[in-house]
Amino acid sequence: MINKIKETADYLIQKGFETPEIGIVLGTGLGKLINEIEIIHEVEYSNIPHFPEATVEFHKGKLVYGNFGGKKVVVMQGRFHLYEGYNLQEITYPIRVLEKLGIKTLLMSNAAGAVNLNFKKGELMLIDDHINLQGGSPLAFKGVEQLGERFVDMYQPYNVEINKKLEVIASKNNLNLHKGVYASVIGPQLETRAEYRMIKILGADAVGMSTVPEIIVANQLKLKAVAITVLTDECDPDNLKPINIPEIIELAGKAEPNMITLFKELITEL
Ligand code: HPA
Repeated sequence: MINKIKETADYLIQKGFETPEIGIVLGTGLGKLINEIEIIHEVEYSNIPHFPEATVEFHKGKLVYGNFGGKKVVVMQGRFHLYEGYNLQEITYPIRVLEKLGIKTLLMSNAAGAVNLNFKKGELMLIDDHINLQGGSPLAFKGVEQLGERFVDMYQPYNVEINKKLEVIASKNNLNLHKGVYASVIGPQLETRAEYRMIKILGADAVGMSTVPEIIVANQLKLKAVAITVLTDECDPDNLKPINIPEIIELAGKAEPNMITLFKELITEL
């Protein structure tokens, strides 16, 4: 894999993706941050050597390089999910490439359901810790030790200093930013009532279908990583309503300006 990562990074460097400091991964329904970026270069995923092959959803997936909050950033507009049929190594391949390009910090976003019923849809949650319910690890393959440690320490997978900064920025801007535990599932089906109950008992505040694999790899690569969740639905097993996916995506879009504020102010401080 090492050679492939280098080839992909070389391709991007030749396209002008020079020494970005920060990587940003935009989650479902959270693409508008791109409008805030002074774009210098962009490449569609389908044109990037060794990137996972695009599915229909990823027709528009692209990697963007530019200035944001006074820093050089590289943004993944669209991410890869297990539920699309990618494996964990494919999903996390782009993170390895961003690290090769030189990023030191990774900011992630996602949409998820609130299992902590004190949290309401449309609100934001800073991920403090996670529970991997995806049944696998992006590090469980032959040769992983060539890319970093095998037994990666997950005692503090989300960067504490950056999380503190985000909390200060949120309170300065009067934004309600919860802090909690994110459980990752494979999907794409939503959870049953019994599964929501189980996830809550396990200690999670939110449940979604992404982020954890990338965070594990970011920790292997010693990147400073943080993730913000937009809560798009309230998962009350005793009062569960039929799910409305367009509504979830729309809600993510409504909460997005707050997330953009957090990331933008954070980057100026990093
Ligand atoms: N479960 C899993 N993923 C989700 C949910 C959910 O309830 N809401 C948004 N993404």
